[in-house]
Amino acid sequence: MLSISERNGGIFLDIEKQGEQESEQPAGRQVAIDVCNLQKFYRLGDETVRALDGVTFQIYEGEFVAIVGTSGSGKSTLLNMLAGLEKPTKGEITIAGQRIDRLKENQLVRFRRRKIGFIFQSFNLIATMNALENVAFPLAFRGITKTAREKKADAMLERVGLSRHKSHKPNQMSGGQQQRVGVARALVVNPSIVFADEPTGNLDSNTSKEILELMRNVVSEQKKTLVMVTHDNNLAHVADRIIHIRDGKIKKIENNQTTGIIEEVY
Ligand SMILES: Nc1ncnc2c1ncn2[C@@H]1O[C@H](COP(=O)(O)OP(=O)(O)OP(=O)(O)O)[C@@H](O)[C@H]1O
Ligand SMILES: [Mg+2]
Repeated sequence: MLSISERNGGIFLDIEKQGEQESEQPAGRQVAIDVCNLQKFYRLGDETVRALDGVTFQIYEGEFVAIVGTSGSGKSTLLNMLAGLEKPTKGEITIAGQRIDRLKENQLVRFRRRKIGFIFQSFNLIATMNALENVAFPLAFRGITKTAREKKADAMLERVGLSRHKSHKPNQMSGGQQQRVGVARALVVNPSIVFADEPTGNLDSNTSKEILELMRNVVSEQKKTLVMVTHDNNLAHVADRIIHIRDGKIKKIENNQTTGIIEEVY
């Protein structure tokens, strides 16, 4: 089976072996993402960069969690490991009851394709495709007819307010419109978790708020879990909880619903 995914700024054709077993998520499960003592070290010559230095936390189903920290604090490293795009050096990641740190690459491909939507800072749309084709793209190779794919993509574009821009190519749309396409594309496959790495990093502040509002509304009405990386504290405060990281460690987890810090400083 072939599938297409986007990671590290590129589009990849993933080849997946057939016949593998995968445990389905039991109904009514509360914890969506369970992370235990996660570490990621990079070796650069003689030096070891501790990009993530032992983080432990849980994210619950249907939650909107922001990961905040300064540049180089380890936000993208963390997000990429949660999304199964990078392998941890040490530690455990359990998503929907499955230990993803133990999966082989072809199993990760299947996991990503079934469970994960990803929204990128730089939109990562395919320049030669129009909005409808971009949104329909992740549905390719799924055994669905072109008509059915376009129907789903059409409904998602409608939902993000782009029904009049279906035939526009990325360079014929504003940044905000392109990110609406990015949101629609992430959600069209009906993932249980949506990851977004600085999704408003290339947008002005008003457009950022609009996109954030859209993401929040769509994921809450579709009961998805949303994990968003940002360095902007104002945007982070829209989330249910905020995980603050510094130098690869969690500094505190802030709960916006009770307007206080419930999980103490680490
Ligand atoms: N492939 C790599 N090889 C070596 N070091 C890396 C690699 N990827 C990330 N790092 C280092 O790990 C640390 C965390 O990087 P990361 O990209 O996770 O930061 P970030 O919080 O997302 O920053 P930004 O806000 O600038 O995107 C940084 O010190 C970075 O230089
Ligand atoms: Mg980053």
